[in-house]
Amino acid sequence: MAKVALVTGGTRGIGAAICKALHEAGYKVAASYAGNDEAAAKFKAETGIPVYKWDVGDYDACAAGIAKVEAEVGPVDILVNNAGITKDGFFHKMTKDQWSAVIRTNLDSLFNMTRPVIEGMRGRGFGRIIVISSINGQKGQMGQVNYSAAKAGDIGFVKALAQENANKGITVNAITPGYIGTDMVAAMPEEALKRVVAGIPVGRLGKPEEIAQTVVFLASDNGAFATGATFAVNGGQYMA
Ligand SMILES: NC(=O)c1ccc[n+]([C@@H]2O[C@H](COP(=O)([O-])OP(=O)(O)OC[C@H]3O[C@@H](n4cnc5c(N)ncnc54)[C@H](OP(=O)(O)O)[C@@H]3O)[C@@H](O)[C@H]2O)c1
Repeated sequence: MAKVALVTGGTRGIGAAICKALHEAGYKVAASYAGNDEAAAKFKAETGIPVYKWDVGDYDACAAGIAKVEAEVGPVDILVNNAGITKDGFFHKMTKDQWSAVIRTNLDSLFNMTRPVIEGMRGRGFGRIIVISSINGQKGQMGQVNYSAAKAGDIGFVKALAQENANKGITVNAITPGYIGTDMVAAMPEEALKRVVAGIPVGRLGKPEEIAQTVVFLASDNGAFATGATFAVNGGQYMA
């Protein structure tokens, strides 16, 4: 029977590429999103992948959403915690709302999404938890103290959870993309983006598909010996 993969923020950008790649690899895929119904409807029409709307920062909404996915698609074998946001600004000007929104969506979401599925994975003796962190959680980025803190937290989460579940057939890994050509990066000022690309040895932005194929490997049986690891896919921009 095909394994079930749930991808948060799966209707746009990197998440959409992950959903498509997992679907092509033979998994039953479900995608969640926050509120952009138009993008979700377009994604669903193009791919046939079912979409579910809830806020990954809300624990009760995650528990209810996952219960619905499990009833309609099947128990979650592969969870890709991909949903994320930025709310950039220098720390000395950052508001508590900018801080809290980013920590909630990028870090609290890991508890909210993973806690409801982990017991099922442990019981079935198989699981894959993949977290889309960021290069900026490894190197830090000015203007992104909130985001860098959340994404570094993602990596700590992965290392600890991997140790707790390694003997249950569950792997837990982080991917740290560099700058990938999605709406998130398109929102950057043009001059800032030019400076970023100049600092990427490969000489270009990454493609969402390049992150997606790393996910496909980690989800597969061939990925079983990789756990607690952080996979940098960043065009050589930062070598941790
Ligand atoms: N793009 C990059 O260069 C880059 C680099 C490193 C790491 N990353 C990380 O990669 C992940 C995906 O980034 P992206 O560039 O593909 O982002 P994106 O194009 O902005 O798409 C974000 C996706 O996440 C969903 N989402 C946002 N907040 C959510 C919430 N509270 N609850 C549920 N879903 C939510 C969005 O849903 P709606 O469509 O409904 O808004 C959308 O589907 C993020 O974690 C990001 O931090 C990105």
